[in-house]
Amino acid sequence: MKPTIVLCLCFIFLEYVQCSKPNIICIIEHCGKQSAACLADEGCRSAMVCITGCATNNQTCLFDCIYSYEDGAFDEFMKCASTDHQCITNDPPNPPVVCHPPQKVESGFTIDLLTGSWYIVKGLNRIYDCFDCQVTTFKPSPNDKTVYDVFEKFDVKMVSGGTRHRSVNETVVQASGGIFNYTSMQMGHNTHSQWRIMHVGKGGAFLLAYYCGSISADYFFEGSVVYSRTPSLTSDQLVELVAAFKDHGIDYSKYCTPNTKNCNAK
Ligand SMILES: *[C@@H]1O[C@H](CO)[C@@H](O)[C@H](O)[C@H]1NC(C)=O
Ligand SMILES: *[C@@H]1O[C@H](CO)[C@@H](O)[C@H](O)[C@H]1NC(C)=O
Ligand SMILES: *[C@@H]1O[C@H](CO)[C@@H](O)[C@H](O)[C@H]1NC(C)=O
Repeated sequence: MKPTIVLCLCFIFLEYVQCSKPNIICIIEHCGKQSAACLADEGCRSAMVCITGCATNNQTCLFDCIYSYEDGAFDEFMKCASTDHQCITNDPPNPPVVCHPPQKVESGFTIDLLTGSWYIVKGLNRIYDCFDCQVTTFKPSPNDKTVYDVFEKFDVKMVSGGTRHRSVNETVVQASGGIFNYTSMQMGHNTHSQWRIMHVGKGGAFLLAYYCGSISADYFFEGSVVYSRTPSLTSDQLVELVAAFKDHGIDYSKYCTPNTKNCNAK
């Protein structure tokens, strides 16, 4: 690389870190290796440039950028600069998200009933729940049968156009009947969320679930999805689902209907 290009990239990088109120000395001191690796990596660099173009606190813009370009180098940098050394602070959504967990939970629902694959056929949170081709698979962990491994696949429409297949892996344990704790490392951050099963469709064919998650003491997110064993619900199942929404006092029209056709499932 020519020195001018390096300088230019450094400028982009500094601009990025300035936007997110970083402690540059801290980054140089602790995360020099990860910063250099990020600059040398096209995905990580693109993520930084893209994020720099987002207005402060535009979460949609921020996550569009991250989902489009996030890769190993980006995660390593964020883990070092944010999680391990707190050089970068994550501004929580403004106004802050306050979770509103549903009061009624399917208390007889146990973790083994999650086993296998589900399509997400309805989603509430436009940032997290509405991707195309979301397929989630639960399997008992080989080492510990009380822990389940969760494999989440989804397609992202990249900001530059085109589609990117993404995956997130989590682990889940049953906290109590119908309530589950998920943990994962996402975007270099330790992420915890608690899921509640609000309705189990006839024959276990679909589930209405709510979650509240956090990446720090003041950074929360919440959402809700409908997991289905098939890419779409039958008309009878839809009638049942609408009744379940009504029973919980939820506005059905707020949910998106992600594309689940022609997905490369499993
Ligand atoms: C936030 O970013 C998105 C995507 O980049 C854009 O469409 C939207 O207009 C922005 N919202 C605000 C309030 O600036
Ligand atoms: C999730 O796990 C699968 C299977 O082990 C693996 O192929 C994939 O790369 C993992 N995804 C992430 C983001 O770690
Ligand atoms: C689940 O998470 C809640 C809230 O963080 C915690 O109080 C509880 O101990 C966790 N339960 C299990 C089994 O991990």
